[in-house]
Amino acid sequence: MEITLRSPLDMHLHLRDAEMMKLVTPLTAETFSGAVIMPNLVPPVTTLEMLHAYKERILESKGEHQFDPYMVMFFKDYTEKELVAAKDHMIGMKLYPAGATTNSEAGVAQIDSVEHVFKMMEEMEIPLMVHGETHGFVMDREAEFMSIYEHLATKFPKLQITMEHITTAKAVGMLDRFENLKATVTLQHLIITLDDVAGGFLKPHLFCKPIAKRPEDREALLQAALQAHPRLMFGSDSAPHPISKKECCGCAAGVFTAPLAIARLAQLFDEHGCLENLQAFISDNAQKLYGVKPESKLVTVSKESFEVPTSYDGHGHKVVPMHAGETLDWKVTGVKC
Ligand code: DOR
Ligand code: ZN
Repeated sequence: MEITLRSPLDMHLHLRDAEMMKLVTPLTAETFSGAVIMPNLVPPVTTLEMLHAYKERILESKGEHQFDPYMVMFFKDYTEKELVAAKDHMIGMKLYPAGATTNSEAGVAQIDSVEHVFKMMEEMEIPLMVHGETHGFVMDREAEFMSIYEHLATKFPKLQITMEHITTAKAVGMLDRFENLKATVTLQHLIITLDDVAGGFLKPHLFCKPIAKRPEDREALLQAALQAHPRLMFGSDSAPHPISKKECCGCAAGVFTAPLAIARLAQLFDEHGCLENLQAFISDNAQKLYGVKPESKLVTVSKESFEVPTSYDGHGHKVVPMHAGETLDWKVTGVKC
């Protein structure tokens, strides 16, 4: 059995910079036609010059693969002039609450203090992507953020807002309440719960933010993905960290899934008898929601054993993927541009 996916898109991806970027970029570019590139570098991508230079570095790192990086600016209190200049060079702006996750210190401390920027973005049709977590109790952070989404979606009805990497049934419910809300969901949040991270031996390579939640949350996310909810898109949030930053005291947040995401998604959709919906989840929904037209890339995935490497090594780095050393039932067997 096999399926051929047309132009897979990863709508939330961390490629980092320098040597790590050189290691991980080809691993996405091989099988994805395009990806939305997160701007949480150190320092974050906050100027057009930084954006162009980062895009250049990504294109140099991707190798021979056909691959479009959709660039994102790190949200801050920009002027109208800055927004006008940046608009055509990016797919949107990513808002991080200050300190919510990796490299987000320069994020927004008070969301209500930047509403004038949301207003301008609404008028200029610049999409807003949001890391939706408060600073509350770790399991409640996303749920507590729902009132902020509700406020923004109501006050700025034409602002296109993406709830990034949703992890709760509540967030799935929001998609049906507000037409200007869309969402990305990761692979890991369709598969694991907090039990898999910390219920037995602690699994640092499954630790990410937002943290995986309860079985009922996973179920709601999974059903929405399997049914290819029209406002839900695949966004891996693949977030590589060197092994020394994961297997240590003070583990960095992030799950590295880029090289196995397509195979594992095919397995998941097949297990639930929903393979025919994978195309919409992994590309068509995003194309419609963001108006992107990726170049053609036909990715064939077959029901064949795929041994996930125990690590991906190169350029002085070693990164451990999800499912390291395990055997998946599906494998990417062909890519045609
Ligand atoms: O787990 C995460 N890792 N969540 C994020 O929001 C950021 C990411 C990273 O950059 O490592
Ligand atoms: Zn992320």
